[in-house]
Amino acid sequence: MTPILILSGKGKTGRRVAAQLDARGVPYRLASRSSEQPFDWYDESTWADAVRGADTAYLAPPVGPTGLARAGKFVQQAKGLRRLVLLSGRGVGSPGRDVAVYDGSLELESVVRASDLEWTIVQPAWFAQGFSEDFLRYHVLAGEIRLSAGTGAEAWIDRNDVGDVMTVALLDESYAGETLAISGPRTLTMPEIADELTKATGRPISYVDLDPEAHVAELVEQGLTREDADAVRDLFAVIRNHRSEYVSDGVQKVLGRPARDFTDWARETATTGVWGGPPALNN
Ligand SMILES: NC(=O)c1ccc[n+]([C@@H]2O[C@H](COP(=O)([O-])OP(=O)(O)OC[C@H]3O[C@@H](n4cnc5c(N)ncnc54)[C@H](OP(=O)(O)O)[C@@H]3O)[C@@H](O)[C@H]2O)c1
Repeated sequence: MTPILILSGKGKTGRRVAAQLDARGVPYRLASRSSEQPFDWYDESTWADAVRGADTAYLAPPVGPTGLARAGKFVQQAKGLRRLVLLSGRGVGSPGRDVAVYDGSLELESVVRASDLEWTIVQPAWFAQGFSEDFLRYHVLAGEIRLSAGTGAEAWIDRNDVGDVMTVALLDESYAGETLAISGPRTLTMPEIADELTKATGRPISYVDLDPEAHVAELVEQGLTREDADAVRDLFAVIRNHRSEYVSDGVQKVLGRPARDFTDWARETATTGVWGGPPALNN
């Protein structure tokens, strides 16, 4: 079997896919700046070698409009590839969700759909691991989640479920031409998330709702550029504007089991030590 190409394979989702392929004995090749197969979204001279000999690719695009445009260019030039599974975003292209924050993702999806490739697009909700592996972890550690999500809710998904769905999409060709929307089993507001994390960690964690512009100011004070801070505000505006308040059934459909609930995820994650307490295990 030709190795599956995993673009951004050292990433937090890509490495879960790699682990699943390992478990099934399926060969794969990681490609990123630090992989044995060097690959850089911003250096086109690395693209052809990465694709050579590959039939199927997993693509987790870089975030932000420039990165998404690079991924689109890559797809248009990916000669020799036959299949592509794209890790996209929540609600991209759905009616009523055409806010600017989705522009780059919508364009990338359009390029993929218009390509000669056999494609599957996976659109996950926000990852629960945002609170344990990404920047929201520091809010949990500080005991205060300070965001501008208002009273909006999101159906947070366990990144392991995302990895499992991506793996099946890579291996099962019957999903060709499908867009798989996946999420956790219920929506939670930020105060509900704070309650869940309080119970899981045994430490008080509160949610402080910021006015969107106060959120930007706080992020800039922490060192973000104004542009990046605006982008973070816009991301949370999707939740604040109640555009994410729905559950998607893709995990049940693809994996034949329910998506993992945030409560179970938080309880287990607390035992790993990422929020203090016992020494960290690999989450
Ligand atoms: N977080 C969420 O809630 C959420 C929800 C829905 C969708 N998503 C999507 O998920 C994707 C991110 O997935 P992730 O969290 O698994 O990624 P991640 O952990 O941030 O991984 C990034 C990977 O990209 C590689 N990389 C970084 N810069 C690169 C470059 N210039 N060229 C080539 N590779 C580069 C890194 O490896 P090297 O350092 O070796 O290059 C690393 O393997 C994004 O497209 C995002 O939109 C996220």
